[in-house]
Amino acid sequence: MEDLAKVRDELMAAVSSAGDLAALDAVRVQALGKKGRITGLMKGLGGLDPDARRQAGQALNELKDEVAASIEAAKTDLAKVAMDAKLAADRLDVTLPVRPSPEGRIHPITQTMDEMIAIFADMGFVVAEGPDIEDDHKNFTALNMPPGHPARQMQDTFYLPPGADGLGNVLRTHTSPVQVRTMTSQAPPIRIIAPGRTFRSDYDMTHTPMFHQIEGLVVDETTHMGHLKGCLIDFARAFFEIDDLPLRFRPSFFPFTEPSAEVDIGCSRAGGELKLGNYGDWLEILGCGMVHPKVLEMSGIDSSKYQGFAFGMGIERPAMLKYGIPDLRTFFEADLRWLKHYGFVPLSVPNLAQGLNG
Ligand code: PHE
Repeated sequence: MEDLAKVRDELMAAVSSAGDLAALDAVRVQALGKKGRITGLMKGLGGLDPDARRQAGQALNELKDEVAASIEAAKTDLAKVAMDAKLAADRLDVTLPVRPSPEGRIHPITQTMDEMIAIFADMGFVVAEGPDIEDDHKNFTALNMPPGHPARQMQDTFYLPPGADGLGNVLRTHTSPVQVRTMTSQAPPIRIIAPGRTFRSDYDMTHTPMFHQIEGLVVDETTHMGHLKGCLIDFARAFFEIDDLPLRFRPSFFPFTEPSAEVDIGCSRAGGELKLGNYGDWLEILGCGMVHPKVLEMSGIDSSKYQGFAFGMGIERPAMLKYGIPDLRTFFEADLRWLKHYGFVPLSVPNLAQGLNG
């Protein structure tokens, strides 16, 4: 039989010189595999006489255990080395800047709503919401437009089948029902803005059946028309980014406000080009007024104690004016080339401290 001490030295040397897990496994196969050296020696035991077989068998078993243990130990060491190398190589640099130009764009309507929200939020308004499908009561009756009221006809309403409660439903024709939702669910002081979709059956150059509005409502014990004016003047100047933009409050009528006004901003139409600023001409942008006492009462608010103002403004027109978008209908055509051109980079969220539009 071969000199076991020599076999041992050679196998141990092979184990310690294996540089990685694959090489170590090859050593294991050479030593302990089916055709391995120790396995071969074990097979040779059969030819020995019983005494010699017992002795040699014991020595071989010890050798086998020793080699197997040293392979296991080397395996643990090499696995650790391999893991360390992987950890060092797989580094992720979290200080790398984000991709400067993501593919997606924010739609100008969303951008404009976010800008308006940023301005009103800075004045202390909170965002409120209501559903697109509204009941007849909140869209009309609770806003002082009972059934048969002439103002109902002016709105080109989309009527829907009544709900389970028997109440008539409509696609809301304005965001004003959110006034009702707010006043019936929370006590004054109230200071909310409600941006959202609105619907009227109308389609031409300047009207789409779905459009957007933003509603404002303030109710407390002291708010008066002067506050309404100051609020809207500050808003319009911040939104259009024109410090001396003039505003004109023109007496008007809405069933849910008294007194009511329509608000115009200064502009010029010289040379067929519309330009905003102090140029002597006027462009209407919104409706507003002091909340009608009947509207407060219908929503359970004591009109001898509380008062306030409301306003409602379209979003598309200011967006077109601010961003030079000539055709209203393109807003809703879902044309990716248009969105690429007029859209906004998603990572520059509008805020007053850093700028409304990046
Ligand atoms: N809801 C009105 C409209 O859609 C706008 C408005 C809102 C007017 C609030 C006054 C007060 O035209």
